[in-house]
Amino acid sequence: MNTPNPLTSRKSGPLEGTIKVPGDKSISHRALMLGAITVGETIISGLLEGEDVLATAEAMRSLGAEVCKGSDGLWHIYGTGIGGLKEPKEALDMGNSGTGVRLLMGLVAGHAITTKFTGDGSLSGRPMNRIIKPLEMMGATFETSDGGTLPLTVIGNEDTMPLEYRLPVASAQVKSAILLAGLSAPGRTTVIEERPTRDHTERMLRHFGLGVDVQDMKDGSQAISIIGQQELEPCAVDVPGDPSSAAFPAVAALLNKGSELRLCGICVNERRMGLYVTLQEMGADISYEHERIVAGEPVADIIVRGTGTLKGIDVPPERVPSMIDEFPALAMVAACAEGTTKMTGLGELRVKESDRLLMVTEGLKACGISLEMGEDSLTINSNGRHPIGGATIKTALDHRIAMAFLALGTATDEPITIDDATPIKTSFPNFEELMEDLGAEINQSTKKN
Ligand code: S3P
Repeated sequence: MNTPNPLTSRKSGPLEGTIKVPGDKSISHRALMLGAITVGETIISGLLEGEDVLATAEAMRSLGAEVCKGSDGLWHIYGTGIGGLKEPKEALDMGNSGTGVRLLMGLVAGHAITTKFTGDGSLSGRPMNRIIKPLEMMGATFETSDGGTLPLTVIGNEDTMPLEYRLPVASAQVKSAILLAGLSAPGRTTVIEERPTRDHTERMLRHFGLGVDVQDMKDGSQAISIIGQQELEPCAVDVPGDPSSAAFPAVAALLNKGSELRLCGICVNERRMGLYVTLQEMGADISYEHERIVAGEPVADIIVRGTGTLKGIDVPPERVPSMIDEFPALAMVAACAEGTTKMTGLGELRVKESDRLLMVTEGLKACGISLEMGEDSLTINSNGRHPIGGATIKTALDHRIAMAFLALGTATDEPITIDDATPIKTSFPNFEELMEDLGAEINQSTKKN
């Protein structure tokens, strides 16, 4: 186990600057995986070099693809072709990464290979049955730990069957795992989703030359279909900045009046924009410039100005999938906004890298905020004054809990310390450095200089 690395943030004043946050984590995983099953060279620029994605890069090597970072700073992948992955000699250690393991379970399920997956303490507690169930229907078999968790082994099947499957939970990971398994199946695999989840797999499959059919159904759901056993075409992927990472400097800027921040080249896919829409409804000054399409994804610069007053709102539950990773960040803003912010439909937050509802609730209470946690809801009451802070926050191996409270600490009267900053490396390796460049006071000492 790593030694915990506590980090403290303290009242900083206005944050200013132009930054480029690391590449989008979801898109980075997918670029490596699709490159690894494509014959020819796939070139990736802007890949997130965080631990989660590096674990996927290593896994793709173990599965037989050539994956290397060139002296040009780009990632070069030479893949095996559809159905060509090799059986890894050892277990694939996916670290903290739910996306890495769940998408890869789908990919290997369609191969006649046996693959064992392991992960850290957080990943080993996360539910995998949601992935196992549809993949079993496609012909794979599984050996899991008690409760259907990691370590687990996927025994893939070369005769993968196509599937039509209605998602019981709004999950892009489940949708993607089925589509990736469907690449090996003869005929049409269809995933039906009631609430739109992030569509990076669909967009990237198209970018790699595969047809993806999306039909709007009478009941309001969408059916996403692919035809399997077709080779992908190698291509170049330019990974845009991660809106989920950009959320933390954006929130810190909003909490410090007078801030002005330009976040360059961020993925602004509407299925990821729920936080930014919500912040605008709360009165935040957020605008977009240089909107363009890069590698099939909408990209823009996001400009955030800290103008002061923000007000509490009700967040519509149908918006949850488009901001599923952003509730810790939103909760920090709600803690400083005038009035009540009510968030509902948050059941999935309990099975993320930590139980995020619980970790946010405990952390904000320790900072002096009044809030109520329900089974799948959070209600935060604030008089608009910033919380006192002065607490040490438990992060439970969760990068987003860590960064959210560090962002809050830039605006509280007393410093906020997080018990362990190590998990931040999974998604935002240069977080501390970039925040300091903007003027945030974040460092290892818990004493004031
Ligand atoms: C992701 C999907 C979401 C999200 C995760 C990344 C993806 O998970 O929370 O961080 O890349 O597909 P769920 O599918 O479990 O909602």
